[in-house]
Amino acid sequence: MADTIHILGLGGVGVLVAHSLAGVTNRPRLNLMLHRPKEYHPPSLAITRNGVTEYQTDFDFESYQDGCWYRELPGSSVEPMEHSQSQSVLCNEAPIHVLIVAVKAHHTIHSIQLVKHRLSRHSTILFLQNGIGSLDELDTELFPNASVRPYYMSAVVTHCIRRNEFFSATHTAMGSISLGSSPRTTEAFKASMSLKAPPGADGLVSLFKRAYYLNAAVRSPQELLQQQLNKLVTNSVHNPLTSLLDCSIEGLITSTNPLVQATSDALVCEFSDIIKALPLSGLISKEDLETEFSAAKLKTTINQIGQRAGAHTTSMLQDLRNGEQTEIMYLNGCFMRWAVDLGIDCPVNKIIIRKVLEKESKADKIMLHQNAGPPDVLDDLMKGNLLSTTGVETTQV
Ligand SMILES: NC(=O)c1ccc[n+]([C@@H]2O[C@H](COP(=O)([O-])OP(=O)(O)OC[C@H]3O[C@@H](n4cnc5c(N)ncnc54)[C@H](OP(=O)(O)O)[C@@H]3O)[C@@H](O)[C@H]2O)c1
Repeated sequence: MADTIHILGLGGVGVLVAHSLAGVTNRPRLNLMLHRPKEYHPPSLAITRNGVTEYQTDFDFESYQDGCWYRELPGSSVEPMEHSQSQSVLCNEAPIHVLIVAVKAHHTIHSIQLVKHRLSRHSTILFLQNGIGSLDELDTELFPNASVRPYYMSAVVTHCIRRNEFFSATHTAMGSISLGSSPRTTEAFKASMSLKAPPGADGLVSLFKRAYYLNAAVRSPQELLQQQLNKLVTNSVHNPLTSLLDCSIEGLITSTNPLVQATSDALVCEFSDIIKALPLSGLISKEDLETEFSAAKLKTTINQIGQRAGAHTTSMLQDLRNGEQTEIMYLNGCFMRWAVDLGIDCPVNKIIIRKVLEKESKADKIMLHQNAGPPDVLDDLMKGNLLSTTGVETTQV
């Protein structure tokens, strides 16, 4: 096993994972990577469950400033990691063998850019994020040469975590983490299947499995892809609808407004049609696609996940409230790109994407908190006669 694991992205998921791994005995060092300098950060990570907060303190810290990574010494002073006086500090930074990335999908390229010079084909990167598409972008933008590309692993995370202040998060619902070699829906998949996992990959899986609160299990790329697609559908229904209606997942799935359910059902039907048409032979058989991704099965799946999430506020709604960019183009946007390639129409999905992007472009804390009047997305759907539920007048959840 690698003697050090680096963790980049220290929001809700990153803090939960780092905190849980820190509790494993005989573990490697955990280097927490801060992508922008902080004058002060707490020395420990805090996770709260059922009102009880637990702290973990045994970490090393690195922070990025002016093109270099700096190692923090105890007492919070910082000094360059190696060759402090050297102009060549960048190329002398220590290689990273195992990297866990827990940033939002749209921050993937920028975050990896900061550590690219420390990665090689001997490195393993585990991506803990929702959405599909960022790895293909990474190949194109940062690692066009497959022979020197790091080994990619992906995870499907079903835990619910709410980020509090810095280095602190609340584990609002216990879920699981499925991890394994990254499945790819493009040609890159075939290439990645033939790659041999570097030694760091096995050690990382075994470490995750020993971390009690992560509830982690290893999956084949085929199984992982199936789970990723189910998660993609779930997030592409729950996240935008809760964002547009400004409600929790519980509020969405228990809504008695027929138009809300009709919109949700219409999205599920469009996603089902797209997934069933994807050229995934060799990964998921045509029969499995038909049964596992029928609209009825998907509806059951997303309702089960929604019930477990309960009062959880989706990250998309949290992003909009904080005036930040959302992951919509890696969720619903992924279905839109597939639909274009396959020549399938997905009108409801397109409207939902447009409405989220509109809300995103004008989102800031003040506007959202002063949000007056009912959300208008469902009105738009009705006006466009896209749903067969005309005549429903209220848009309240
Ligand atoms: N939270 C959940 O319940 C949950 C569950 C399952 C899956 N997920 C998925 O997991 C992923 C991470 O979610 P999250 O909730 O942990 O997000 P988050 O709380 O927003 O945390 C993201 C972290 O990434 C950091 N970051 C942003 N840009 C960066 C960059 N260029 N380089 C390095 N770090 C950067 C942020 O730093 P700053 O402190 O500077 O903002 C923040 O610490 C997302 O894809 C999300 O959809 C989340």
